[in-house]
Amino acid sequence: MSKSDSGAPIDHREPVNLRDVAELARPRIDASAWDYYAGGARDELSLRGNRVAWERIPLHYRVLTGHAERDLKTQILGQPTSMPVMIAPTAFHRLAHPEGELATARAASAAGVIMMLSTLSTVDMEAVCAAGPGPIWFQLYVYKDRGLTRDLVHRAEAAGCKAIVVTVDAAIIGTRERDVRNGFHLPPGIECRNLVGTGFEEVSARAGQSGLAAYVKDWLEPALTWEDVDWLRSVTRLPILVKGVIRVDDARRAADYGAVGVVVSNHGGRQLDTAPATADVLGPIADAVGDRVNLLVDGGVRRGTDVVKALALGAQAVLLGRPVLWGLGWKGQAGVEQVLEMMRRELDEAMALSGCGDISTVTRDLVTGGT
Ligand SMILES: Cc1cc2nc3c(=O)[nH]c(=O)nc-3n(C[C@H](O)[C@H](O)[C@H](O)COP(=O)(O)O)c2cc1C
Repeated sequence: MSKSDSGAPIDHREPVNLRDVAELARPRIDASAWDYYAGGARDELSLRGNRVAWERIPLHYRVLTGHAERDLKTQILGQPTSMPVMIAPTAFHRLAHPEGELATARAASAAGVIMMLSTLSTVDMEAVCAAGPGPIWFQLYVYKDRGLTRDLVHRAEAAGCKAIVVTVDAAIIGTRERDVRNGFHLPPGIECRNLVGTGFEEVSARAGQSGLAAYVKDWLEPALTWEDVDWLRSVTRLPILVKGVIRVDDARRAADYGAVGVVVSNHGGRQLDTAPATADVLGPIADAVGDRVNLLVDGGVRRGTDVVKALALGAQAVLLGRPVLWGLGWKGQAGVEQVLEMMRRELDEAMALSGCGDISTVTRDLVTGGT
């Protein structure tokens, strides 16, 4: 560690970007958990493709627009957020940090952003919802046991969750070959807390395969249909979003079946490998249903410029998956807060240099060029 001009120590390991946070987190996370977090399906082509697609889009910035400051605030489903960035639902936060989803929820509240909480949380949803004033949306996996699924939804409602995000791209689990090799499973003391008492709380070791893949195969519904969205609407008053759509026709159907939102997502490249990059399908989906549903997008969002591009293409907000886990593994709540602040600073910079004063001015011409 060296000294600055003022004599204060400079920690050269302060991260400058999200990649740096990943590097700092890696030695602090168990190798099998790291692979579970980092990996994608099969050849990991969609995992890489998500990133490449954001990188490939140029931003056609405007000049002389006269904004000394930017306002990043917006609303999603009428819920205020300090910026158009949300926390994606990811399973098993306690593999990254002992405080797990509690730390993540506290960081989300501190940053004024909305968190989606996975069904496969390693902290009870009631405790996570009580962790801060920030809104929590509950991500739902539909179990074969519909009574149990309905109970999860009712618990989420009672705990104060503000929306249900039903994930529809996981009929079975895409094979993440790293997890197969590692025989991925949850270690003793870490369990799916939302399922305690149901017999579905453990993700245990299975010879020659990923314990999670076996769990999903055994317990989750592999044959969901659009009628199940109707069923879900019949059991809750909460708004429903459908997560995992990459086609225009499916986005239309989601709107037809009463979803208030669609998350354009390929599960971070973890399900069907060679699925298209979300940045490539977002624009056409926005053109088709952007006036009917709230559009969110995730997959490889790592830079403030990516957020501007997503908004310009028609999304209301982006979701961050892995970067949140990196922040959590690096230093718990403070690490997640730093990840979110990094995104905020980058988004502010990208808007400043694009000539945008607020979110409403982030429009399609920024990715197509002015006419
Ligand atoms: C470790 C990990 C666990 C995940 N768990 C879930 C989950 O429980 N439910 C879900 O709907 N999506 C899950 N996802 C997908 C994320 O919600 C999101 O779509 C994806 O991570 C976004 O891509 P990014 O990680 O490149 O930001 C998971 C992703 C990762 C990386």
